[in-house]
Amino acid sequence: MSAKHKTQATWGGRFSAGPAELMLQFGESVSFDRRLWSQDIRGSKAHATMLARVGILSAKECAAIVRGLDGLAREIQAGKFKWQLELEDVHMNIERALTERVPAAAKLHTARSRNDQVATDVRLWIKDQCVAVEGALVALLKTLVKLAAANATVYVPGYTHLQRAQPVSVAHHLLAYVEMFNRDRKRFAAASDAANWCPLGSGAIAGTTLPIKREITAKLLGFVDAKGRPRVTTNSMDAVADRDPATEFCFAAALCGVHLSRLAEDMILWSSTEFGFVRLPDAFSTGSSLMPQKRNPDSMELLRGKAARFQASLQHLLSLTKGLPLTYNRDLQDDKPPLFDAADQILLALAVTEATMAGAKFNRERCHAAAADPMLLATDLADWLVVRGMPFRQAHHAVGRLVAIAEKHRLPLHEIPQELALTADPAFTKGWQEVFNLTRAFQSREKIGMPGPRTLEREIKRWQKALR
Ligand code: ARG
Repeated sequence: MSAKHKTQATWGGRFSAGPAELMLQFGESVSFDRRLWSQDIRGSKAHATMLARVGILSAKECAAIVRGLDGLAREIQAGKFKWQLELEDVHMNIERALTERVPAAAKLHTARSRNDQVATDVRLWIKDQCVAVEGALVALLKTLVKLAAANATVYVPGYTHLQRAQPVSVAHHLLAYVEMFNRDRKRFAAASDAANWCPLGSGAIAGTTLPIKREITAKLLGFVDAKGRPRVTTNSMDAVADRDPATEFCFAAALCGVHLSRLAEDMILWSSTEFGFVRLPDAFSTGSSLMPQKRNPDSMELLRGKAARFQASLQHLLSLTKGLPLTYNRDLQDDKPPLFDAADQILLALAVTEATMAGAKFNRERCHAAAADPMLLATDLADWLVVRGMPFRQAHHAVGRLVAIAEKHRLPLHEIPQELALTADPAFTKGWQEVFNLTRAFQSREKIGMPGPRTLEREIKRWQKALR
């Protein structure tokens, strides 16, 4: 750029001088929005086709434009396209290059603004990303279900407050995450649905006086419902101002990130020497540059950290749009870095989680040693008293007294001598020790949502079928 600033051909008509170098540097988005090139070209091809159908472009002009756009696509794909910062964004870069090759391209921007153009590009991009995320989520779900099936008879303590609570199985624990990630699928599908309305034709703010047919463009771009009927936005002002699809995508990513971070934290704890329940694969662990013995669960720690990044992207979009007057404001250009980052990172995070979990090996011995803690069955013992007619509140106290005796005498709960047990409550007649049997404990939990072995087997089958 010379000191005497070049004027912008696209909007430069009313200006005597182009923007300052500093303004260009500040205002350009092509350094990041060039990622939208294929969506931008798809949008332009559809727009040109529609313009030809309503007679605004001749068939010849349209064909030349489409051919030109296809050529540009090949050039960009091959990395031969010269992106120019002074042309601000992806839209102007492509339009300028096209106009240089195809004179008819000067008519392409008829009945279109960059405002409805960028809204369209981003929506197409979000829909594409949702397809990729759905694939990654399904892959992760399949791996978790497989891992659950392989570890259906590995028992571990379940924790509340990170204190041993009641026995569960590794399968039940893993299937909890299957539920979460399956809900995430629905949230990404909802974001995709929010994006599935075509804003093209909204123009800058109030549409156009020209006789365009928005349904044609929408259909060509795949903005359709389940029956193939076109979905076009129904208010031109909302259409160019709306960033809900991006925000919803980032919300889906943020919540999915929270789920990933909780799984990560469980794996970090479980792979510690203190727990020793699981060994994560070498390929997703790292050593220490100083301590030779170290084997750190880095993939899981990074996942835990990424959750912050997803939340930052969501926060970014919420803050960006808060209090913004209708309709398009240049602030909105900055919606892309957080959106792109959320999509890139969630895809990476899901792939890393899938690969790490695929190589996770559970240590049955360590798991069972922990699950054998008789305290885990204290509640089952209270239930035993309830079956014999004692109100639960009272049973809870009676078992509490028994637990106190066990702690005082340093005895495992089920090894308290009978005479001593009777001092806790006369209801501890002979036979109360039968509760301390994990098989019994699990077999008593064959109700929906519980970790009974047959219930879990059904759950595993249900998921296997659902994910086929
Ligand atoms: N690069 C812009 C963005 O992403 C495109 C829309 C520009 N519209 C405008 N009126 N300046 O928001």
